[in-house]
Amino acid sequence: VDGASAGDEIVSGTLLCERCGDTYPIAGGIPRMAGVMSGDERHTAEHFEMEFTSFVAPRPPTPGEQAVNDFLFYSRTGFDPHVFEFLNADPYDTQRASEYVPDGEQLTGAVALDAGCGGGRFTRVAAASAEYVVGLDLGRQVDWAAAACRDLDNVDFVQGSVRKPPFMHRSFDRVFSIGVVHHTPDPAESCLRLGELVREHGALAVWVYSDAYWGSWPRSMVNRALNRRISRFGSEDAKRVAERILYPLGRLQARLARRKWLKLLAAPVFLVSIPRVARRDEMIATILDYYGPRFISTHAGPEVVRWLEASALTDVQVLPVPTSCIGWRRPAGPRAGVPIRAGRDGRAA
Ligand SMILES: C[S@@+](CC[C@H](N)C(=O)[O-])C[C@H]1O[C@@H](n2cnc3c(N)ncnc32)[C@H](O)[C@@H]1O
Repeated sequence: VDGASAGDEIVSGTLLCERCGDTYPIAGGIPRMAGVMSGDERHTAEHFEMEFTSFVAPRPPTPGEQAVNDFLFYSRTGFDPHVFEFLNADPYDTQRASEYVPDGEQLTGAVALDAGCGGGRFTRVAAASAEYVVGLDLGRQVDWAAAACRDLDNVDFVQGSVRKPPFMHRSFDRVFSIGVVHHTPDPAESCLRLGELVREHGALAVWVYSDAYWGSWPRSMVNRALNRRISRFGSEDAKRVAERILYPLGRLQARLARRKWLKLLAAPVFLVSIPRVARRDEMIATILDYYGPRFISTHAGPEVVRWLEASALTDVQVLPVPTSCIGWRRPAGPRAGVPIRAGRDGRAA
């Protein structure tokens, strides 16, 4: 309704909903539409804000990072089925990422939504092929994502929730949500909201943590108990625990693991799962990802299939990377399966 603009972009102002009268600020070029959050949701937003703003640099990726992001994006969305030829036995192993050349044809001309975009790494991948991409996230990491994508002119960000996405139904050709809905109180419901956004001929792709996430017993018991404890802390305290206790424990595990007999002797030290990552910052961020979020659920493929089918999506498929699924909004009748057209001008409302 008012505000300052720079060229075509509105950088500050207020959005007014003519139907309900609610207003939402625009700041830094980003509509702030998260609204009032519950205590647990605020904790989720603050946790991930801390994680992204402390450990992720707000800059475009290096070519090596971009290759990994391309590989992760396509193998978790299935938007390029060719990617599965580059999967190793371990779907989390990105060793062959550099051999993979992405084919973004399924995104060409598409209006896409990155639901839970975090620092925008996958928004950027989609933007390389799609006509227009919107990144949505609950927290201030949208500012990080916007900074990391500042060289792209077909990307915008909105601060808001996948539980109440601030878009009109059937606004998007491709909706993808990678590692997000398991951080919401009701992932099935979140998927339903995302499914409503998918246009005819469009698709929703979702990746969530699989039931194997916490490891096998007794590790899973220890890991879950630690998550329950740490996720009660404020985000700065959780960060201190990760930096001062869990990260050194991970380094100790790495040293002990070099000798089999030492590993056996110190077996209890290995009851806590600490992801091993080469860079310190990245390892601390991964530890926080594991132990910090208050909402964190794990799922099986068939369960995710049911969520997508509940949105009246069809041809729902579990992809080779567990637990990622894709479903399509096929119109009934002879036009079924017609691909999206390049040059579509419909943008997310
Ligand atoms: C593990 S990160 C994944 C980010 C990104 N998809 C990626 O893979 O890099 C989870 C993200 O989900 C976001 N998130 C959690 N609950 C959300 C909600 N209700 N609405 C929107 N985003 C949410 C968090 O803020 C966080 O950025």
